[in-house]
Amino acid sequence: MKGLILCAGKGSRLHPLTLSYPKTILPVANKPILYYCIEKLVELDILDIGIVINKSQKKMIKEKLDYDKQWGIRITYIYQNEPKGIADAVRHAKDFIGADPFILLLGDNLITESLAGLKSSIERQESNAAVMLASVKNPQDYGIAEVVDGKIIGIEEKPINPKSNLAVLGSYAFDSTIFKAIDSISPSARGEYEITDALQWIIDHKYSVSSTYTDKHNVDVGTIERWLEANRSMLRNMKGRRIYLAGCTFENTQIIPPVIIERDCEIKDCVIGPYVSIGSDVWLEGCHIENSIILDSVRLKHIPYQIKNSIMGHHSVMAGLPRSSKKVIEH
Ligand code: G1P
Repeated sequence: MKGLILCAGKGSRLHPLTLSYPKTILPVANKPILYYCIEKLVELDILDIGIVINKSQKKMIKEKLDYDKQWGIRITYIYQNEPKGIADAVRHAKDFIGADPFILLLGDNLITESLAGLKSSIERQESNAAVMLASVKNPQDYGIAEVVDGKIIGIEEKPINPKSNLAVLGSYAFDSTIFKAIDSISPSARGEYEITDALQWIIDHKYSVSSTYTDKHNVDVGTIERWLEANRSMLRNMKGRRIYLAGCTFENTQIIPPVIIERDCEIKDCVIGPYVSIGSDVWLEGCHIENSIILDSVRLKHIPYQIKNSIMGHHSVMAGLPRSSKKVIEH
């Protein structure tokens, strides 16, 4: 079985951060989202992995993956230069996939559930496609399944009047029927080849789509709020621990766990936490930070406000605002 991870999206809801940095290598609890996807595949012994990227992301994504070769996987890069949807990205990977069954992961989805159920359903040829469903509060933002007697009878992309709250998460398994389906669909109103339309084609043509349900916390890291939510969730898994890496110095600083701090940081006169991740080479002095993500090489000094629910982009510098009454900065 092969793995396919899609990373070529524009990440427009995370602009301006994603103008200079591909969304799938933004960190959650200091680990690129893409690493979580790769680890999910490696867990199932899927080591032949295709990654769909666009040309502008090529250097940064390759660098991140070369830098950390611990998994023993074989990566094939596939290019999708125009973001024409998930199904179009899968079509670009047709030569890489060949006749093999495969697991498809959206590179911005942080799935904590095991993918073993999806894999076995396709391997045992019980269905032609397998999806993972979860109940969500905002069904208008997802592909939504209509399920009758445990069987999916319809899937609709971002419906205005959803028939259920069962979202199709960004992890799927397919046999080669999916390519027939993709070749038969047309772009949606938003101009994309939707994977949900391909799934609907499979259902309509008497092939089968099976599903597993998960109530584990799975997040699509598409917006700042959901990125912070994913970060909280992963930090919570650290069970209240504080994790610091080598070369950090702390002076007169209170850490309220869970907090993760990457290497070579200097932190002085600060209150940090709970739910804060700090990248490498960050210097903080006189700051109070809660529920936030501080990316690499940030410099913050004498910030008279509490920094909360915020993301500080790579190399941001903020210093010495005049003292004022206690205010809270929210992103
Ligand atoms: C995409 C899919 C949608 C799926 C969702 C999962 O949505 O089109 O069917 O439910 O991922 O995160 P998008 O990321 O385009 O909003």
